[in-house]
Amino acid sequence: MTASESPTLLLRRVRPYGEGAPVDVLIRDGHIAAIGPDAGAGTSPDVERHDLDGAVLLPGFVDLHTHLREPGREDTETISTGSAAAALGGYTAVFAMANTQPAQDNQTVTDSVWRIGREVGLCDVHPVGAVTLGLKGEQLTEMGQMADGAAKVKIFSDDGMCVYDPLIMRRALEYSAGLGVLIAQHAEEPRLTRGAVAHEGPNAARLGLTGWPRSAEESIVARDAILARDAGARVHICHASTTGTVELLKWAKDQDISITAEVTPHHLLLDDSRLETYDGVYRVNPPLREAHDTLALREALVSGVIDCVATDHAPHAAQEKCCEFAAARPGMLGLETALPIVAALLVETGDMTWRDLARVMSVRPAEIAGLTDQGRPIEVGEPANLAVVDPDSPWTVIGDELASLSANTPYEGMTFAARVVGTVYKGRMTSRDGKVLA
Ligand code: DOR
Ligand code: ZN
Ligand code: ZN
Repeated sequence: MTASESPTLLLRRVRPYGEGAPVDVLIRDGHIAAIGPDAGAGTSPDVERHDLDGAVLLPGFVDLHTHLREPGREDTETISTGSAAAALGGYTAVFAMANTQPAQDNQTVTDSVWRIGREVGLCDVHPVGAVTLGLKGEQLTEMGQMADGAAKVKIFSDDGMCVYDPLIMRRALEYSAGLGVLIAQHAEEPRLTRGAVAHEGPNAARLGLTGWPRSAEESIVARDAILARDAGARVHICHASTTGTVELLKWAKDQDISITAEVTPHHLLLDDSRLETYDGVYRVNPPLREAHDTLALREALVSGVIDCVATDHAPHAAQEKCCEFAAARPGMLGLETALPIVAALLVETGDMTWRDLARVMSVRPAEIAGLTDQGRPIEVGEPANLAVVDPDSPWTVIGDELASLSANTPYEGMTFAARVVGTVYKGRMTSRDGKVLA
């Protein structure tokens, strides 16, 4: 069967947004065809049926920040294995960061990533284009060509590196405004983070680790808000990690500056007390901060000061993580564990409803990226990109069992209550009960 001939699916007994009594959802030709207690009535017996037992139905998740490592580091992740991880995590669209080898800094590479993503067919893979050639921060890329290519690149970022030169950032913002694309900034003033491996604070001092100050992030967030204001451009802040960044975002939004921001599940859940064991799995950029930062980030997500959750899924080989802390590569897996963490921290606590979770994991990221077929309401006629969540299906994270080619999860051995039990992408089931469906 080809993608265009997607099967007719009947999702039996699901609760859209976790609200109301269970209903059936009929999916035909990639779209939602009927919703209701009798939505499947009269359908032929060979319709693909999934009994979902009252599970929560949400729009499929959209990840603005994923590292898929292809081309160049296919030993740690490929577009195929990363798409499988995405499907298992409830994602129907991911944005693949540009710090591949070679970098996604020209149309040949961005179009190639796009085509491979389509061939794999488990979710939309949108390549992020680099802002500067080789992510060196010196010379702007041909953003227009990448935006006009097959991939229709919508987001540009040097993530992994900061566009640190204010004049280059200013030009990038001006150029992006004309093209109608978005610049996503990895906010890290490199002059303040030389040799830094951990959050600058009492823990790093005690453990003898070189500190990464809050000011390295906050000074760039403040600068870029002002540059975006003056360029009449939009700017997106990757992986906000500090209380001060939250305050700056609030200030900028109050001035009607077009700024948006994401936060990762790991910055919401973990703090720098984890570094006690010097386990390289906890090394990440920006670093895990202090407990009060995690609380400020959670509050900001609830209030909308931070727009959305993005995983910063960053696979690394075992030998790059199981080494001296300062030598470990920064980054953590995220795609398969995002939903359980956000649900545990914000829905199970009563701070958010499932509809709110849909906003931060699907609706807002789709809006920020300008996607028209993702993050849509669960209504008849809408594209069938959906995630099915069982709120009470405890599972324990085991890195080696994740679909990702790498195993660098900081959640090893942790048990979470909620789990994605199914993902529907363009009207086809791409994962079900922890298995990827071809
Ligand atoms: O921890 C991180 N890992 N932060 C980044 O900005 C880059 C990423 C990676 O590529 O591994
Ligand atoms: Zn980054
Ligand atoms: Zn990243």
